[in-house]
Amino acid sequence: METELHMVLRSLRVWDPAVTELPPFDPATAPAEPLALFSAWFAEVVAAGQGEPHTMSLATVDEEGRPDVRIVMLHGAGPDGWTFATHATSRKGRQLAARPYAALTFYWPVRGRQVRLRGPVTAAASEEGQADLHARSTGALAAALTGRQSEVLGSVEELARASEAAWEHAQRDPGAPVPSWTLYRLRPDEVEFFQGDEHRRHVRLSYRREGGGWLKELLWP
Ligand SMILES: Cc1cc2nc3c(=O)[nH]c(=O)nc-3n(C[C@H](O)[C@H](O)[C@H](O)COP(=O)(O)O)c2cc1C
Repeated sequence: METELHMVLRSLRVWDPAVTELPPFDPATAPAEPLALFSAWFAEVVAAGQGEPHTMSLATVDEEGRPDVRIVMLHGAGPDGWTFATHATSRKGRQLAARPYAALTFYWPVRGRQVRLRGPVTAAASEEGQADLHARSTGALAAALTGRQSEVLGSVEELARASEAAWEHAQRDPGAPVPSWTLYRLRPDEVEFFQGDEHRRHVRLSYRREGGGWLKELLWP
């Protein structure tokens, strides 16, 4: 049966020329390592007005090997890896403790770009995670102080009370520690850059860690 949802879905297009510009991407000119290309693409999509370019899908697996995915924020990227932060006690935190391997995906529609990373994940030292948290907004600290992430919530009133107390705590003590809040670092063994093309000759450039360097390969789209 043709539902309204089906009709709407069929009417939608990606990469509407009114909002998306698909730049040419010559993989022959790509740098030898992925961090430089990630940084360049990130700067370009920020300049092009991409909304929330620092949000990404974080995929983990549970103890049975079943996948799970949610959005988190990118806190940094450097030679040691890409970082994000969450509670070690959350569902994803428990999954990462059992299976310290994850995947990240960024999607930047304003330039028809996707970046995918896979690799082992380690927890940064507690001091680094707390310093990262305290450099962020009062709201970020209040949210972290609220805690109990991924636990069953009894009622919205319960959350409102806990959040109000956490906001007061965060305002009173901007350096308040949140022991479960953890900075995680994904050190990619693979990074793939996808540049959309209007004729669907999308460019997929994959970097795979090999020896001390990176092997670059093109992939069929
Ligand atoms: C735009 C956006 C950004 C988010 N950023 C974070 C984040 O940086 N850290 C985090 O723990 N949760 C973040 N969340 C919430 C997660 O998507 C998720 O709901 C939460 O972490 C619980 O996931 P889990 O039950 O798999 O552990 C964000 C959600 C959205 C929509």
